[in-house]
Amino acid sequence: MNPLAQQLNETLERDNANVYAMLSKLGREIYFPKVGILSQSAEAKAKAKKFNATIGIAIENGQPMHLNVIQDTLSAYDPKDLYEYAPPAGKPELRTAWRAKMMKENPSVEGKGFGNPIVTNALTHGLSIVADLFADAGDAVIIPNKNWENYELTFGVRRGAEIVEYDLYNSSNRFNSEGLREALLAQKGKGKAIVILNFPNNPTGYTPGPQEGDEIVAVIKEAADAGINVVAVTDDAYFGLFFEDSVHESLFGKLAGLHERVLAVKVDGATKEEYVWGFRVGFITYASPSEAILASLEQKTLGIIRSTISSGPHPSQTFVLRALQSPEFETQKAEKYDIMKRRANKVKELLDSGRYGDVWEYYPFNSGYFMCLKLTKVSAEAVRQRLLSEYGIGTIALGETDLRVAFSCIEEGDLEELYDTIFKAVQEQLNA
Ligand SMILES: Cc1ncc(COP(=O)(O)O)c(C=O)c1O
Repeated sequence: MNPLAQQLNETLERDNANVYAMLSKLGREIYFPKVGILSQSAEAKAKAKKFNATIGIAIENGQPMHLNVIQDTLSAYDPKDLYEYAPPAGKPELRTAWRAKMMKENPSVEGKGFGNPIVTNALTHGLSIVADLFADAGDAVIIPNKNWENYELTFGVRRGAEIVEYDLYNSSNRFNSEGLREALLAQKGKGKAIVILNFPNNPTGYTPGPQEGDEIVAVIKEAADAGINVVAVTDDAYFGLFFEDSVHESLFGKLAGLHERVLAVKVDGATKEEYVWGFRVGFITYASPSEAILASLEQKTLGIIRSTISSGPHPSQTFVLRALQSPEFETQKAEKYDIMKRRANKVKELLDSGRYGDVWEYYPFNSGYFMCLKLTKVSAEAVRQRLLSEYGIGTIALGETDLRVAFSCIEEGDLEELYDTIFKAVQEQLNA
């Protein structure tokens, strides 16, 4: 094993042997080269005042060489903020700004030890880093039965982890913390589990209430008390879009510092929150009271980044940073939040109006981009196909009964027609 990897491992083992034990084989072996091209180049950037001939970019007239056909369309930005490589950990100012935003929006992180957010190529990449560092073949990844389908590829197919599902809702249509508890405690033999908590949930649009949130945290603590090392990952893709009285913070705050056998990891980003899906700017943040552990996990994360994408795109980091620093940011975000909330409210109003009879129920939703219908009489796939071929309406069928509707994509004034048409398609399918 490389001595640098060994050093990181020794630090982790010394400060918290449980965190060390959570690492995958790759997680143990990975490191970020201290004496490689990037570190020599960073050193030169600070000190080489005459000529800097270290890195594989091109310089002309004291700035990164570039083509005017590109720069002309981006003239609001300085070439140095677009064309140079961003550091593997991301633009430092962006990391600082995101950390400040996280603290402002999540008062529960107050007083907890957590690292500087590391920039990822959006959330999928953050999740994939978690998978690389912590998931080995056969490790359990615990998710609810209503989940984002990509976890299967990221953890199951790529890393050979075993996906363990529990029902998202209990019989009272609230978060099924007992199901999570059973799935977690069943991993006692393995001594390790990765739990992914995604609220607002894709596909249902559900976020638990404060009491349910506390139950989730208590269940994870119980598993840790029982000797299970838990990598507790919050996938906060839709953070902030809380429309009702659910928790309005990430559970990361309460999971941080919960137990020495719990490693809280926050995966979040600008993708959905800032409506910049194609920019590919996300973050991964670790919690630990130990600075040395945070530093070691950051080095290992940088090793994964360097060995996969090398570094994230620079222009979009610059765009997001400028937005976060703009005095108009909060106002503009609030305007978009209001639009999304009005759409969610309209959907609820339609569904609760009684006009659709008993052809469907809907899963409780209070946040995010989506809601899910549970069709009671006909197959979701048949309705999806009919909506598409007869009415030019696209929805997502999930399993036998569930139809996911991204109300985020539909203007408030069109929602009535959308749901009335889904209802019509269901009736036609019933009579087919
Ligand atoms: C729950 C959840 N997590 C992560 C992602 C991926 O986000 P990104 O586009 O930033 O990779 C999505 C995207 O649909 C999602 O729904």
